[in-house]
Amino acid sequence: MPTRPFLIAHCRQLLTLRGSRRPRRRRQLAALGLIRDGAVLMQGDRIVAVGTTRAVERHPLARRANKFTARDLIVLPGFVDSHTHLLFPASRADEYEQRIAGLGYEQIARRGGGILSTVRKLRRADNQSLQQQARRWLGEFATHGTTTLEAKSGYGLSLGSELKMLEILRRLHREGPLELVATFLGAHVVPPEYKRKPDAYLDLLIRRMIPAVAARGLAEFCDVFCDRGAFMLTQARLVLTAARVCGMELRLHAEQLARTGGARLAVQLHATSVDHLERINRADIRALAASDTICTLLPGAVFHLGKSSYAPARALIEAGAAVALATDFNPGTSPTVSMPMILSLACTQMRMTPAEAIAAATINGAHALRRADLLGSLEAGKQADLCAFELSDYREIPYYFGVNLCRLTIKRGQVIHDASKRFQI
Ligand code: NIG
Ligand code: FE
Repeated sequence: MPTRPFLIAHCRQLLTLRGSRRPRRRRQLAALGLIRDGAVLMQGDRIVAVGTTRAVERHPLARRANKFTARDLIVLPGFVDSHTHLLFPASRADEYEQRIAGLGYEQIARRGGGILSTVRKLRRADNQSLQQQARRWLGEFATHGTTTLEAKSGYGLSLGSELKMLEILRRLHREGPLELVATFLGAHVVPPEYKRKPDAYLDLLIRRMIPAVAARGLAEFCDVFCDRGAFMLTQARLVLTAARVCGMELRLHAEQLARTGGARLAVQLHATSVDHLERINRADIRALAASDTICTLLPGAVFHLGKSSYAPARALIEAGAAVALATDFNPGTSPTVSMPMILSLACTQMRMTPAEAIAAATINGAHALRRADLLGSLEAGKQADLCAFELSDYREIPYYFGVNLCRLTIKRGQVIHDASKRFQI
């Protein structure tokens, strides 16, 4: 028996993000494909029709659909969060307090805190508790409208513990309902046992870890933290080139703490995405704009570190770069699962318009994960992933901050979050 169709009708505003198959650039970034009194008809895990309620109700499947009226809701594609470090054992609230007292993020890292303190705890943590914590956060992601997220390894930094992280991520993905896209970040920082012989760690990464991850099909992407205090440009190039040989797609953390040339490297290697970009210069902006690499901006990390060095979003957009937004959810620099909060920061701090920010967190996020054929917009044939906010205008999504107004989240046609409990989950 095919499942009963599901119709969401009379949406106050329906943001379809339909159109262009290419990443959104320049003025196209703000084209939301807005329909007033819109409707989405779904069957199983797919969207069957999108349009005005009048038009969609004429569809032959609409008559026998379960109907839900959304007069007070703004409906849009589920957020695609293309940069997270979902799996970690504990917060770093102690370092947060140290930073408030004046210590720098890099200073704390040099003293063995930062990423390495999370690595120490993760290596000791048992799978069950790690998985349980991630499950809890995944629930929170869904509550804030996210339906797909990328998740990185990178807090294990040994063959065994990196595989352990990626295997947990695979289990969480299979268990659902959220969809996870895994990234191998063995090149996050050099682990303590290799402190005096970083080249040996690089060798381990290239000769053993990357091939092992690829052979098990545990990660679609390989990432490197290419920055001061992490990996240098030449090292990043070696790691990424090895990953490409093993069939992985590439992404890169670049130009967050210092300008190292990582953005240019990402362009040269045709990386899918290059993330952070707080320290780029005008020539970098031109190179990024001329490339197919998505520029993923992470204002949550700038905010949480108490800095003001936001990435130059306006200059990137105006030069023609394809900009995406993500949370960078992690215990050190961006402990938030809230894409609406990221939209608020993007608008207020980086002067993106609400429409640009929404497209950057949906369709361009889907491009940043090579999933735009299925995700990121509401169009017939795509996966039925959407979220709904109880607001009167889409601009209020970033306008209100620090309050969660996401009322409904649907993943593959199933309600996974219902704040009003109109549905039994
Ligand atoms: O994206 N910069 C590298 N990775 C993270 C921080 C990870 C951590 O501090 O635990 C980031 O900001
Ligand atoms: Fe990150």
